[in-house]
Amino acid sequence: MDKQERTCHVVVIPYPVQGHINPMIQFSKRLAAKGLQVTLVIFSSQTLLTDHPSLGSVKVVAISDSYDTGSSSTGDYLKQFQATVTQKLPRLVVELGISSGHPISCLVYDSFMAWVLEIARQLGLSAASFFTQSCAVNSVYYQIHEGQLKIPLEKFPVSVPGLPALDADELPSFVHDMESEYSPILTLVVNQFLNFKEADWIFVNTFNSLEEEVVNWLETQRSIKPIGPMIPSVYLDRQLEDDREYGLSLFKPAFDSCMEWLDSREPGSVVYVSFGSMAALGEEQMAEIAWGLRRSGCYFLWVVRESEEKKLPCDFAEDSSEKGLVVNWSPQLQVLAHKSVGCFMTHCGWNSILEALSLGVPMVAMPQWTDQPTNAKLIADVWRVGVRLQANEKGIITKEELEKCTRDVMEGERGDEMRRNSEKWKKLAMAAVGEGGSSDENIMEFAAKLASKFE
Ligand code: UDX
Repeated sequence: MDKQERTCHVVVIPYPVQGHINPMIQFSKRLAAKGLQVTLVIFSSQTLLTDHPSLGSVKVVAISDSYDTGSSSTGDYLKQFQATVTQKLPRLVVELGISSGHPISCLVYDSFMAWVLEIARQLGLSAASFFTQSCAVNSVYYQIHEGQLKIPLEKFPVSVPGLPALDADELPSFVHDMESEYSPILTLVVNQFLNFKEADWIFVNTFNSLEEEVVNWLETQRSIKPIGPMIPSVYLDRQLEDDREYGLSLFKPAFDSCMEWLDSREPGSVVYVSFGSMAALGEEQMAEIAWGLRRSGCYFLWVVRESEEKKLPCDFAEDSSEKGLVVNWSPQLQVLAHKSVGCFMTHCGWNSILEALSLGVPMVAMPQWTDQPTNAKLIADVWRVGVRLQANEKGIITKEELEKCTRDVMEGERGDEMRRNSEKWKKLAMAAVGEGGSSDENIMEFAAKLASKFE
């Protein structure tokens, strides 16, 4: 059986940003562990730091998306990206089949690239769409696609089946971006549903118990398969070996300095701060965070990407060296799994949230854009594993607000309750991806169905 399944060869194609690459690497690894042959194909103009030809049993192919990043608007990039993939993918798929001796039977593509379904059909292959973000935000986009929510939205709060009522600042930011430079992204996220009912499988990076009501509601529209949380299973039980790699990183993590620094702190004493791979904060906001962290009296480990460093207050990192460490990129999973970390101040990217939930770390939510405001709503009001920072009338989160909320999570009764809730979600996440769990079963079913075509 195992040998037979290996003859099923699947190509997995992420959208080329870190927050989409990471979960699709993990999905590829899980498929390989179920006996499928898997090739991960990344079209990107950025260089992958760890330019592996393989990640364990997953073969990796990195291809230039031919994009000149100097001359860009979001809309231009998206058009050119689609044109390049459409031109290069069909031949590549055929060649991968020939060179491996196992023809490809299915394309698993990021739902941002719904048009790959056409390519799969032209090649006579099965097609699976992989939604990297929460079922909650995807339901909002689905409602827009179906015309149930009309943009521009005029009345708040908004009702979406399976979700609490959402105020304007709790909706994905793109719904407010019709006239801005991000309007092509609103089209992109809504177009995830163009052929939603035609794809052979819909995978969602969530787990049943985490988003039960909204998963059940979306199920009334078509069958969907929650397969998350897509984070390396080794971290789910805090078995930290010398496994430094999430997979393919676009940034270089300061592994040793983070780990050494954390090792010398008390359990639960550190606030880990990160805004992911894309968010860019204003200078005034960076200063408020800096002074707020210092006022909180807590130890802090703050990821400030190289491109953002100039926004830090002068000499802040040096002057704070007794209490804090600032790095350009961290090994986030290992950091969150470290016993010294007491809470995570996060921009609420979906991967960061799944990682924190799976490792039982409570959060201070500071959403920036895209899906993050909706994710923050779930953290604070649905799962009750954190608090959301509130901006002042100028849209700034002040140092006082930051200090207060950080203390709420790190200390006192509310913090204890959030920690208990975080532990509960950690167990449920482990159960979903463990053997026989709901997400694991969905992956098994996919592998078995593909294999049965070869019987
Ligand atoms: C993007 C979007 O912004 C996010 O809202 C969406 O849900 C997914 O795509 P990003 O902003 O980078 O992603 O955030 P997130 O989803 O949290 O992904 C970041 C990934 O980079 C995580 O897997 C995290 O572990 C990793 N990371 C982040 C590091 O390894 N080191 C760091 O220092 C910071």
